[in-house]
Amino acid sequence: MLIDSHCHLLSSCYDDVKNEIEKAFFGGVDKIIINGYDVKTSTEAVKLANGYENVYAAVGIGPENVDGVTNYDIKKIKELSLNKKVVAIGEIGLDYYWTKENKEKQISVFKSMLEIAKENKLPVIVHNREATKDVYDILKSYESFGILHCFSGSLESAKEFIKLGFLIGIGGVVTFKNAKKIKDVVKDISLNYISLETDSPYLTPEPYRGKVNNPCNLVYIASEIAKIKGVSSQEVMDVTSRSVMSKFDL
Ligand code: NI
Repeated sequence: MLIDSHCHLLSSCYDDVKNEIEKAFFGGVDKIIINGYDVKTSTEAVKLANGYENVYAAVGIGPENVDGVTNYDIKKIKELSLNKKVVAIGEIGLDYYWTKENKEKQISVFKSMLEIAKENKLPVIVHNREATKDVYDILKSYESFGILHCFSGSLESAKEFIKLGFLIGIGGVVTFKNAKKIKDVVKDISLNYISLETDSPYLTPEPYRGKVNNPCNLVYIASEIAKIKGVSSQEVMDVTSRSVMSKFDL
């Protein structure tokens, strides 16, 4: 079993989304979770999920898209979250790398998203860039659970998020030669707390780094994790899929 817990197979990211979905399944992926990042892409994610048995949607407003967000947008996400193929609220979170100027707005939208997740008892898929303390404190206060997507923090913070009920999302970066920090995190946490993701179309793993990504490249991520942990790729795929299915209704 192979699950891509975080990708953006959306028409804003590809010329032909349906072709990409078929390519993913043909390439051996069993289930994919398409993540929106605003009302428009979340709406499309839900539509695509309803067209394929093994495609699921995460809906939400991400930190890079909070400017101009109104209560109406938040209400739209709330409505979308009721669809039966919506398995998470995501991609949501905080990103202080690009800008801190709209920090208050980022936090307020993030909290509204966590509120929706809590009401529907849904897991969350969280983006965190240079905002670890705020992300941690807020997730803890909402008793949220889910995935810390594209994890880039320290081993200590990984352990704290695991204690809250999060999986550590590992993607293409782990295959990069210079990615010592994330390789060390993978080595030191149990395989039981890792989820696989591609973040397609971004972050393509080696040996295709720099090209457009597709969920079928998950096999390269699984194989790198297998090498680091000294287990088979099959075990990495099975254990990570089981963990995702224990938190998400796939
Ligand atoms: Ni993403």
